Amino acid sequence: MSILIKGGRVITAADDYVGDVFVEDERISLIGESLDVEADRVIDARGKYLLPGCVDPHTHLDMPFGGTVTIDDVESGQTAAAFGGTTCHVDFVIQPKGATFTAALDEWKAKADGKQVIDMGYHMAVTDLKEGGTLEELASLPDQGITSYKLFMAYKGAIMVDDETLFRVMQVAAQTDALVMVHAEHGDAIDVLVKQALAEGKTEPKYHALTRPPETEGEATNRAIQLSHVAGSPLYVVHVSCRESVEPIARAREAGWNIHGETCTQYFFIDYSYLEKPDFEGAKYVYTPPPRDKANQDVLWNAVRTDTLSVISTDHCAFLWDGQKTMGKDDFSKIPNGGPGLENRLHMIHEFGVRAGRISLNRMVELLATNPAKLFGLYPRKGTIAVGSDADIVVFDPSRKHTISAKTDHSRSDYNLYEGIDVTGTPELVLLRGNVLVENDELVASPGIGRFVRRAKFGEELKGGAAVPA
Ligand code: URP
Ligand code: ZN
Ligand code: ZN
Repeated sequence: MSILIKGGRVITAADDYVGDVFVEDERISLIGESLDVEADRVIDARGKYLLPGCVDPHTHLDMPFGGTVTIDDVESGQTAAAFGGTTCHVDFVIQPKGATFTAALDEWKAKADGKQVIDMGYHMAVTDLKEGGTLEELASLPDQGITSYKLFMAYKGAIMVDDETLFRVMQVAAQTDALVMVHAEHGDAIDVLVKQALAEGKTEPKYHALTRPPETEGEATNRAIQLSHVAGSPLYVVHVSCRESVEPIARAREAGWNIHGETCTQYFFIDYSYLEKPDFEGAKYVYTPPPRDKANQDVLWNAVRTDTLSVISTDHCAFLWDGQKTMGKDDFSKIPNGGPGLENRLHMIHEFGVRAGRISLNRMVELLATNPAKLFGLYPRKGTIAVGSDADIVVFDPSRKHTISAKTDHSRSDYNLYEGIDVTGTPELVLLRGNVLVENDELVASPGIGRFVRRAKFGEELKGGAAVPA
């Protein structure tokens, strides 16, 4: 199947021009002005943007967490992603305590089997490391295309690791060219604060934020930066939410250290006051790190503008408010942590980043597609529009209006963080490797079309060769 997309405004991280894009055998094979080639299908894209399919490096689909399981499985989560212009994501495999990485990976791949709507890779979240066992196994993962290790410095008593494990994983990453990702919070201090709050009868959702002050994020971010520098591994700090965490990242990058950071859509829009909503509605905003004081929102816009933070992800970790979040009705620490958002990133960042004049279209593409692809070993197959790249293309109508709502979104969650927000600009047609995924507001491809992608090692490019089935 070949497709000729005519007259669209091609936006990459570096370019902005009107041209024709010819797609053959899943890849972009020609780009030019007024291409004169035969195609099975011609798409008129005049007046539309052609964006690379967005890449979301931070999602949690079908994941056991907080005494329940995230409500979006691979099919519903990836369908939501496709409607939001995301054509590739990297999900977290969480090593069950005592299990091998191979067993964990097999379990996650089985959950995805036959359900994949977009392409995907996996990070490995290490929870339990044993010398002479899983430590050696960890070193073999990058050769299987799992080229990032994740460590949680919080969630004590569940998936938190100690500093020894953190440091040993960093040493392995330094040897295997993997990227270390950290959830940076001081888990021990937070655990003390949570217990003290509960003992004082402080049970409402707002105490989720009040027991996780920004300094606990800043301290852990700095600790991870210093340790990774000693170990010699690259580091990626996930879901940065506040000035206390931005500042050590900025310092390290100014010093030329191999440190990278992301924030997530919600931290630009949701502040602490949302947690105070009455009738337990505040529980919808219980995710970690928590919504911060509004002053942090400008800090984050500035950080993504100046490349202190290089990626905007979603941290999509969706639960039902009614039935899952309500598990914590009498105890905020039992509210499963996480929120939906996989479908809303491009809409929100285009509206309030680009249209509001905070970032350029090129920078939006860089933050949502190109940088995540580069950092996570997917570039240039993913994350750009170029000859030889996978034909993952979003035909984006910059003038069509769209209202965000859980009722029309494709996540199974029963609420949306951005409910009722009107945006101008929305994906009109989404291609995955030249296959039409979304058109006329319908999912037109069948689940199973998405593939597992073996990612390149940190700093390497992902060159030719077909993605292998999951
Ligand atoms: O609250 C969140 N962010 N849930 C997902 C797990 C994590 O910490 O990223
Ligand atoms: Zn986290
Ligand atoms: Zn997360």
